[in-house]
Amino acid sequence: MTNCGRCWCITISILAIITAVIVVCVYYTTPSDPTFTINDFYVSALNLSDISSTTTAANQTIFFDMKLHNTNTAMGAYYDPVKITFSYIPNIKLTFVVGEYTVPKFFQHNKKSMHVRESVVTRGIAPYNRMLKSSVFMVQVSTKVGFTSPAYRKKGRVVVVANVWVGQTGEKDLKKGIKLFENGVGDGPRCLSIQMELLIVSIATLFLIM
Ligand SMILES: *[C@@H]1O[C@H](CO)[C@@H](O)[C@H](O)[C@H]1NC(C)=O
Ligand SMILES: *[C@@H]1O[C@H](CO)[C@@H](O)[C@H](O)[C@H]1NC(C)=O
Repeated sequence: MTNCGRCWCITISILAIITAVIVVCVYYTTPSDPTFTINDFYVSALNLSDISSTTTAANQTIFFDMKLHNTNTAMGAYYDPVKITFSYIPNIKLTFVVGEYTVPKFFQHNKKSMHVRESVVTRGIAPYNRMLKSSVFMVQVSTKVGFTSPAYRKKGRVVVVANVWVGQTGEKDLKKGIKLFENGVGDGPRCLSIQMELLIVSIATLFLIM
């Protein structure tokens, strides 16, 4: 081989390596599941300044503002219908569902957020625990999410929960947003094998070129 031929060989291999690395990084990095944050939560039946909240005619509506955020820099997210379940926990032994809301399926571009600001009519909140300083609710989000990357197009299950403490104003105690987290087992890392395969293929290519 001439010197120049060798030069070209090296240049081409370097370009091949760079391309392989970019492909692996952009298309095959494991996407993060979207995040769900409760920014506002108001239960008018638990607002003690509201006279009607002391009667059986108390407004049973929960108002909430939830942020759905796709944290990935290079992948859009396909959401199945997002089911939001509100449970009331009047004491340690008792948890019951008081309301549900479903966000229709949608697509979200990379790094984008969506706010769902809605009122849900609930059943059975008042007049439990009127004397307590705060009441506890559990908010659960259940959906399936897939991504624009070919390796992660198939939708994976996402189930996250958080407890929300509501004070005597009917609003959540914490001023800052409450992020929902996974509770128990998810379905593990997806498509790890594809990343490994790609890595092996690019290394093998390298050896062939050298
Ligand atoms: C609670 O009820 C009072 C009286 O109706 C009302 O003025 C106040 O705005 C309510 N609190 C919230 C957080 O909406
Ligand atoms: C209950 O409260 C919600 C939100 O605060 C309001 O939109 C709705 O009109 C109220 N319903 C009644 C029956 O007062």
